[in-house]
Amino acid sequence: MRLGLIGAGNMARALARGWGEPVLVSDSGSGSGRAQALAAEVGGEALASNLALAERAELVVLCHKPAQLHLIAGEIAPAARAVLSVLGGVNTAALQEAYAATPLVRAMPNTPVEVRRGVVCYSVPPETPAEFESEVRSLLERLGTAVKIEERLMPAATAVTGVGPAYGALVAEAQVDAAVRHGLPPSLAGSLVAETMAGTAALLEVRGYDTLRVRREVTSPGGGTARGLAALERGGLRSAFQDASDALLGWSSS
Ligand SMILES: NC(=O)c1ccc[n+]([C@@H]2O[C@H](COP(=O)([O-])OP(=O)(O)OC[C@H]3O[C@@H](n4cnc5c(N)ncnc54)[C@H](OP(=O)(O)O)[C@@H]3O)[C@@H](O)[C@H]2O)c1
Repeated sequence: MRLGLIGAGNMARALARGWGEPVLVSDSGSGSGRAQALAAEVGGEALASNLALAERAELVVLCHKPAQLHLIAGEIAPAARAVLSVLGGVNTAALQEAYAATPLVRAMPNTPVEVRRGVVCYSVPPETPAEFESEVRSLLERLGTAVKIEERLMPAATAVTGVGPAYGALVAEAQVDAAVRHGLPPSLAGSLVAETMAGTAALLEVRGYDTLRVRREVTSPGGGTARGLAALERGGLRSAFQDASDALLGWSSS
């Protein structure tokens, strides 16, 4: 399937690197050079117009900013044969309104798709042709874990997967800072923290994602881990994550 990426920023680059095949790509044309750079890196071609891209692509992947939905649909909707959207916060109804009769899938990837360890949640309108859905699923599975979910769950999924790499990186950074304060060189601390996170993720999978069990296995009663965990609770770790998801989803507790 010939892929055409509209937008050549962080997510387009991560997807293209993960797919590892030549792509057609366009950017805003305002001189960032990002489409050219991406085509030079992964192969394919940077095109000067979104319409030219839509005319040649078998699947148009929307990787521009969410606010540009109507602007870009106005340029390409009649020409697009099929659409995969990764636009944050743009639901399927809005996509269908913009792209009328075009088969489409709404997906929410995260940046680890670049190394094929991404999580991509996606939802599919009921009338979608089975063959198209299956082709898109195969494409998404090449990026890591692809999970089909109900449309109504996409915002909550986005709050853990789409933004997750940023949260994870911040938590890692905080741990690295603490380790450096106690004498570890930053690069050693960075690798120890990252590999511990990766190992914990693998262990969670084996334990059926039972976070409490994994935590208990490290926590001797009255021991140092228990004291460390208590300090994190006092620091508001849980409520900070609750507040973060409320902020992302536009909720207010007041
Ligand atoms: N970053 C993430 O982790 C992440 C995760 C999940 C979903 N997403 C979604 O992915 C999309 C892109 O996010 P991003 O982080 O990659 O943003 P970004 O780095 O700012 O990239 C946006 C890209 O869109 C291009 N663009 C702007 N106007 C355009 C136009 N008229 N025609 C064609 N291209 C145009 C920009 O071109 P220039 O290079 O010329 O400025 C740029 O290459 C967003 O909808 C976001 O919600 C992002």
